[in-house]
Amino acid sequence: MSIKRIGVLTSGGDAPGMNAAVRAVVRTALFHDVEVYGILRGYNGLINGDIIRLDEKSVSRTINRGGTILYTARSKEFMTEEGQRKAVSTCKFLGLDSVIAIGGDGTFRGARALSSHGINVVCIPATIDNDISCTNYSIGFDTAANTAIECIDKLRDTMQSHERCSVVEVMGRNAGYLAMYVGLAVGATAVLVPEKTIDFDKDVIEKIRQARFNGFTHYMIVVAEGAGSASEIAAKIKEAIDLDPRVTVLGHIQRGGSPTGRDRVNATKMGYLAVELLLANKTNRIVCTSKGSFTDVDIDDALQMHRSIQSMEVDVLAAMTGL
Ligand code: F6P
Repeated sequence: MSIKRIGVLTSGGDAPGMNAAVRAVVRTALFHDVEVYGILRGYNGLINGDIIRLDEKSVSRTINRGGTILYTARSKEFMTEEGQRKAVSTCKFLGLDSVIAIGGDGTFRGARALSSHGINVVCIPATIDNDISCTNYSIGFDTAANTAIECIDKLRDTMQSHERCSVVEVMGRNAGYLAMYVGLAVGATAVLVPEKTIDFDKDVIEKIRQARFNGFTHYMIVVAEGAGSASEIAAKIKEAIDLDPRVTVLGHIQRGGSPTGRDRVNATKMGYLAVELLLANKTNRIVCTSKGSFTDVDIDDALQMHRSIQSMEVDVLAAMTGL
């Protein structure tokens, strides 16, 4: 099987570094004399034939840009048999023999559907949530974490001046990787993640008291959105110890901005590897990182995998917060 024409799409929530991955796919494919097409708005672009030819110039000056030049969507229609049939027929009509799909778990499930209809697919993990079980690293996490850290550092200045308690809500959907990482990086008083059931009195209120005994007069509580709303947590703190916490929901700002060097370089390597896998006649694969190296896994196997917050992070957090 020789690969002649690759389509590349971004799907799900955008993540900084997606453009660097698209750029690497385009440049690697062209390097091997393979044509590349950009599929716009995720799987909707395949359904609607929303596709553009990409050349070296189309991806110039995109490595430093956040968001995705291909636009993105969470396609409801593609979840249906009819939507998938239309997408496959677009691939056949346009002679796209392969698709590289950049996104998270939902994107991988979509790619698996294409693969079952005979299209070659390789996926690249990109989500600020970093919640993909088959890989330690997902494109966008590093930038989002650094954005959140920068925001919280700024917040700390005013919290410290007014001797206040701050409750900050960090994204991550049902996962707490981003919140845990950010919480450790900003020296939070407490971090609430969905993976760990907490005893509110012991894990939040006592930690604030302990911090007070240690001489602190301001307190930073980081909450993963999957662990509860910052407003509710703030209300519970107010009720328990008569502090009047200020609430900050960082929200979509965490998904924007120029990607960090780490996100740019890893996205470039992953985009390169995705094309090399197709050229080596591999399909239904996800490029991932494991134990510090780049590798690839079967999509079906990847979707069965489970991982959670490392117990080391929980232990370190406990030591850092003094309880
Ligand atoms: O999956 C990425 C993510 O940013 C999550 O952290 C968040 O819960 C969700 O997407 C937000 O989605 P939307 O952009 O549709 O509001």
